[in-house]
Amino acid sequence: MDDEPVRSSPLEQRLSRLLHRRRAESRLRNLKASPPGSIDFSSNDFLSLSTSPQLRQSFLSELQAHSSQLGSTGSRLLDGNSELAESLERELAAFHGGQAGLLTNSGFDANVSLFSCLPQAGDVIVYDELIHASVHESVHRTR
Ligand SMILES: Cc1ncc(COP(=O)(O)O)c(C=O)c1O
Repeated sequence: MDDEPVRSSPLEQRLSRLLHRRRAESRLRNLKASPPGSIDFSSNDFLSLSTSPQLRQSFLSELQAHSSQLGSTGSRLLDGNSELAESLERELAAFHGGQAGLLTNSGFDANVSLFSCLPQAGDVIVYDELIHASVHESVHRTR
């Protein structure tokens, strides 16, 4: 039997220290799934669209009618772009009265995209402590 203590690598030690620090600062997050049948008081599904039978049917019909493949197959900047994505962007822009639209994977990604290209050297970004974490993260990345 080997009595040697299990040694962790420098990378594991560093990650362990970082996790410990996150836990100490109450910044360690965990994924949780809502139990089936629970009542939703905290998501962004204010209109209950996620469980709308009409929206579900409409989504499936659109998918059936316009998409011969599932997924983009890759980055839109390379070969993952599609007429379907572009037409949805045009439709969303028109709905919001904007000149153009841009689909992103999430609101978090939208903020990272925006704040990594709009602010230029010398610009000032004013925000408060209640700004969404994605803006916080984005702003601090662009410094
Ligand atoms: C203002 C704001 N920005 C960004 C996000 C992040 O969006 P997502 O969860 O799609 O990444 C949210 C999510 O609630 C938000 O309220």
